[in-house]
Amino acid sequence: MGNATQSSKPGTSSHGLHIVIVGAGLSGLAAAIGLRRSGHTVIVLEQTAELREVGAGIQLPANSSRILDQLGILEKVKKFTVQPRDLVIRSYKGEELYRQNLCPAIQERFQYPHQLIHRADIRRLLFDEARSQGASIRLGAAVRTINLSASQLELVTGELYAADLIIGADGEHSICRESLLGHSDPPLSSGDVVYRLAIPAYRVAPHLPALIDPPCVHAWYGPNSHAVCYQLLKNGIFNIVLTLPESEGAATIGPRPADLDTIRSQCKEWDPKFQQLLNLAESSLKWTLLQTKEMESWTHHSGRFVLIGDSAHATLPYLAQGAALALESAHTLSTLLQNISEPTQLPALLDLYTQLRIPRARRTRQRSKDMHDICQLVDGPAQRERDRVFREEEPGEGFPNPWADPGFQEWMWAYDAEAVAQRAWEESNLEQRESKEPRNPKL
Ligand SMILES: Cc1cc2nc3c(=O)[nH]c(=O)nc-3n(C[C@H](O)[C@H](O)[C@H](O)COP(=O)(O)OP(=O)(O)OC[C@H]3O[C@@H](n4cnc5c(N)ncnc54)[C@H](O)[C@@H]3O)c2cc1C
Ligand SMILES: *[C@@H]1O[C@H](CO)[C@@H](O)[C@H](O)[C@H]1NC(C)=O
Ligand SMILES: *[C@@H]1O[C@H](CO)[C@@H](O)[C@H](O)[C@H]1NC(C)=O
Ligand SMILES: *[C@@H]1O[C@H](CO)[C@@H](O)[C@H](O)[C@H]1NC(C)=O
Repeated sequence: MGNATQSSKPGTSSHGLHIVIVGAGLSGLAAAIGLRRSGHTVIVLEQTAELREVGAGIQLPANSSRILDQLGILEKVKKFTVQPRDLVIRSYKGEELYRQNLCPAIQERFQYPHQLIHRADIRRLLFDEARSQGASIRLGAAVRTINLSASQLELVTGELYAADLIIGADGEHSICRESLLGHSDPPLSSGDVVYRLAIPAYRVAPHLPALIDPPCVHAWYGPNSHAVCYQLLKNGIFNIVLTLPESEGAATIGPRPADLDTIRSQCKEWDPKFQQLLNLAESSLKWTLLQTKEMESWTHHSGRFVLIGDSAHATLPYLAQGAALALESAHTLSTLLQNISEPTQLPALLDLYTQLRIPRARRTRQRSKDMHDICQLVDGPAQRERDRVFREEEPGEGFPNPWADPGFQEWMWAYDAEAVAQRAWEESNLEQRESKEPRNPKL
């Protein structure tokens, strides 16, 4: 057991609430920045001793760019991003099926750009900003258990922390989610394995633009498999993500080196240009793509514990929206907590948060699942119909590229998490209720 509990007395801080965040991933760090900007005291506990990133590129759609602007770091982030010109969708044989302009179209339509960035860069930028806003980030601090009703937690070292509010932001493998559920809940295999290949740009450069048009995001739709590739200029790497079916009876694996020859032989029938790209790779990592079960609630009834990010709503990556959803939940929560004056307001606020977020996360998760099927159709009638729609039809509802489906695009990218949260807070009358009435412990 630890000796002193690591916090000022909850609820007595003169500057807002005392909040502990579990996990310094994208959602935990984004929440830390927003909460610090509102004057709350924030401690972030991260199990790893240093910031390390497995994986390479992530996409920051317009709605993520908007949040980064609201957090005050969009200009810094832009120094590390690429704004892709087009999304180019091809069949795995190489036929171009569909081309969608992203830059400048997305910026013009949604006021914010679609960007590509290296995970390590975005995480470091959020980390630095959280620190400079005064969040205390403790590395090598792995949380072991959480007492939800008391809002206390214990590290593996035995140190204890108490808070007005604990925010679980510990990702897909989440002890925070398990504490809330009251049982273990490991993510399960989705049946696909992801391969990440990061090719140094200098190896690709001699083959440009014959092999690939560098300012674009390229996708190849294959049978039970698909690939996405783009250049991350600032990092000088070509990022390829290839999804292939898990072999029968294989065990779930975390990131580990993959055999390039095996990958190449599985893509023997693919676009020769894609195969040439694969031939330029020198190494690859692979891991099982996991999925989590839908949760009924992300909060504890005490109102002092809440989940954000992948711990609450990990999504399959086929829409490239996981990081966007994580930033969105983090920012919705910190906006709702902007003007809170009393811990007694927390239960009602957390209810608002889940009312805003659960339906949105559910729809995104569902659409990502649908995408899994659409972009991995085996050769046959359904695949031919998909390709015909791509070639011949104007994007409409249910278009096989959801990024171009006008209704869904609007829903995804016009969404302003901050404005929505602000309106919800105003409509809830929580602030007025608090100032007129004495403390209502049942609130
Ligand atoms: C193959 C793949 C491709 C993807 N591509 C995209 C993409 O293009 N665009 C996109 O938007 N998203 C993408 N994502 C998803 C995106 O990476 C995640 O949605 C996002 O990182 C979630 O952020 P998070 O903060 O919730 O969790 P994480 O980033 O996983 O962070 C959780 C943190 O909590 C820490 N932690 C865990 N347990 C404990 C503990 N007990 N104590 C203390 N700390 C703990 C972990 O060490 C980690 O730092 C992709 C994901 C995958 C797998
Ligand atoms: C949680 O904390 C409360 C208050 O300190 C205590 O009464 C309770 O026993 C704790 N629960 C667990 C499971 O440790
Ligand atoms: C951003 O869009 C993605 C889908 O593109 C959606 O899943 C996510 O909820 C949106 N996030 C924000 C901040 O609007
Ligand atoms: C909190 O108060 C500030 C200043 O009055 C205001 O600008 C902001 O919109 C408020 N936030 C919310 C969520 O209502």
